[in-house]
Amino acid sequence: MAIHWFPGHMNKAKREIGKVMREVDLIIEVLDARVPYSSSNPEVRRLRGDKPCIKVLNKSDLADPAATEAWRVHLQAEHGVRAVPLHRGQVKQAKGLLSFGRRLLPRDRNADRPMAVMVVGIPNVGKSTLINILSGRTIAKTGNVPAVTRRQQRIAIDKNTILLDTPGILWPRLNPPECGFRLALTGAIKDTQFDYQELAIYGVSVLRERYPEALMKRYKLPELPDGDLEILEAIAGRRGCLGRGGIPDLHKVSELVVHEYRQGLFREVTLEDPHVADEEEPSPTEESHD
Ligand code: G4P
Repeated sequence: MAIHWFPGHMNKAKREIGKVMREVDLIIEVLDARVPYSSSNPEVRRLRGDKPCIKVLNKSDLADPAATEAWRVHLQAEHGVRAVPLHRGQVKQAKGLLSFGRRLLPRDRNADRPMAVMVVGIPNVGKSTLINILSGRTIAKTGNVPAVTRRQQRIAIDKNTILLDTPGILWPRLNPPECGFRLALTGAIKDTQFDYQELAIYGVSVLRERYPEALMKRYKLPELPDGDLEILEAIAGRRGCLGRGGIPDLHKVSELVVHEYRQGLFREVTLEDPHVADEEEPSPTEESHD
């Protein structure tokens, strides 16, 4: 379910998660490993305070393993953070997050109290899938809106661990605009303000720069034409996205490229490296929504 995040939604999400956070011992922030910066929420650091946090580089089956490793190291530079690559096929590793998290709790914590775990993240990164794996049951999705107070239940995973059964849903980064493009390409933002052609051109340009072979292989292009538009036209030719008189149908081919990326048909492709976190981080005033 898509949602436009307005300052009111953001404040609501912050308030709701802030309230629950008091009882939480461990935060699991789920990120999309293809876009770990764009899919992270700038507020998590403030919301969690000193509490330990595991950042899950999720959907790692779709990301470039070398880039995922670079991100793992980068994310762990933040105090109290451990980062773990994961995908939905790795049930054992997912369950292992809880024992890993337990080792991150402060030593002076009252060990008689079960560890309370909350999963947070922007829409569509795989929070519900992870909660289902951790809890061993299928939870009903409430939609991608801030909904922490709505019948929040605690599931006893074992006598030492409690999991909040609805994720803390946070807003995606839309600033700078490249983050919006990357999120739209990965499907985190579905009904997008970008038109397909704009998005496909962005996608082709990133792929041409970062993974030209993936682009050539997927569309059986012996070589890549010079410009992004020309590449789209070549793909249109390859895939029969042609209009009258054999002219490339740019809308059709753009939809095709965007859908194929969203469906994960480009394997091992990551759209951003850790340095974007330094280059693109907005100033605190740009981020403030209070
Ligand atoms: P959310 O709660 O954060 O909004 O995300 P959710 O778990 O609903 O997952 C969003 C989509 O991502 C789902 O696909 C889900 O199957 C897929 N997904 C979750 N984890 C992984 C992963 O590790 N790897 C890959 N490749 N995909 C993952 P969907 O098409 O929206 O639904 P469906 O496939 O479940 O029908």
